[in-house]
Amino acid sequence: MGSEKSKILIIGATGYIGEYMVKASLSMAYPTYAYVRPLKASDTHYSSKLQLHRQFQSMGVTVFQGELDEHEKLVSVLKQVDVVISTLAVPQYLDQLKIISAMKKAGNIKRFVPSEFGNEVDRVSGLPPFEAILANKRRIRRATEVAGVPYTYISANSFAAYFINYLLRPYEKTDQFIVYGKGDAMAVLNYEEDVAAYSVRAATDPRTTNRVIICRPPGNIISQLDLISRWEKKTGRTFKKMHIPEEEIVKLSETLTFPGNIPVSILHNIFIKGDQMSFKLTAEDLEASKLYSDYMYTSIDKLLDRCLINPPKPKRVAFA
Ligand SMILES: NC(=O)c1ccc[n+]([C@@H]2O[C@H](COP(=O)([O-])OP(=O)(O)OC[C@H]3O[C@@H](n4cnc5c(N)ncnc54)[C@H](OP(=O)(O)O)[C@@H]3O)[C@@H](O)[C@H]2O)c1
Repeated sequence: MGSEKSKILIIGATGYIGEYMVKASLSMAYPTYAYVRPLKASDTHYSSKLQLHRQFQSMGVTVFQGELDEHEKLVSVLKQVDVVISTLAVPQYLDQLKIISAMKKAGNIKRFVPSEFGNEVDRVSGLPPFEAILANKRRIRRATEVAGVPYTYISANSFAAYFINYLLRPYEKTDQFIVYGKGDAMAVLNYEEDVAAYSVRAATDPRTTNRVIICRPPGNIISQLDLISRWEKKTGRTFKKMHIPEEEIVKLSETLTFPGNIPVSILHNIFIKGDQMSFKLTAEDLEASKLYSDYMYTSIDKLLDRCLINPPKPKRVAFA
């Protein structure tokens, strides 16, 4: 992508994975930009978001304020950058059509990374509430391809800090864990900082133009039962396991109303169906830890060690 450092714009920068993305971009010395919604004093998270905007600015991020609906403004911002990484929230997936239309008008974007960072959407399928999310992600992929904007899709599988907190709750005293189904399906848990580092590297790498990157580092593939057993060894404790049968999870996905039906459908896909490991990688696939073998990713084992010393508090209780 030329010898000059690419200018990276992050849309959704104030969000959970967005903040990691901003920090990864800065840490690799890319000129970093954020397109954020203007804050209103009545916003629920007004003071924390304001603080984050100021923190970004103090770290050297150029912060543009605007809505996704402000087409001309968005086009003028896009004209000043080379790479766009979207980390928009789940309900805003289809709003990325506005970004695609603005990128098409701007005509200069060298790479678009849409908000995905989960399962490989073209190779998995879920229960209906999760399938609807996957369908939206696929729709953004197809619209990007039709628009002719060069892209890289990041299949990050599961965020490790997030799911370790969710499954093991290291921040509270507990003697039992919930296990979804039998607990033996293999999942891939990748630390958020690594997901962001892989994403920024891939977004600026000529080898990954119009390719899917799959994050499946060997040290991060684990079942729920293995995760619990590793935690037992590290803590020197034994935990009871309360299994929720698959039928019960499927039933919940059918009876809970939106958005409560989404987390159970995702849990089913990852930890019961084992979809993240349901397909073999071929020589054609780009796996992140192989592609960037010089990058020392944080294994689940290392993350568990960190949890022992300093258990992180979850930022939110529900995912997706
Ligand atoms: N693999 C996993 O384990 C996992 C877990 C969680 C999420 N994810 C994926 O990561 C991606 C980002 O999710 P996230 O949880 O990080 O998102 P998030 O924190 O909920 O939100 C990200 C950003 O979206 C923007 N946004 C929210 N509402 C908006 C609105 N009405 N209009 C315009 N922008 C709006 C906000 O940016 P501004 O306020 O700056 O404008 C917000 O900071 C998604 O693709 C999600 O599926 C994956």
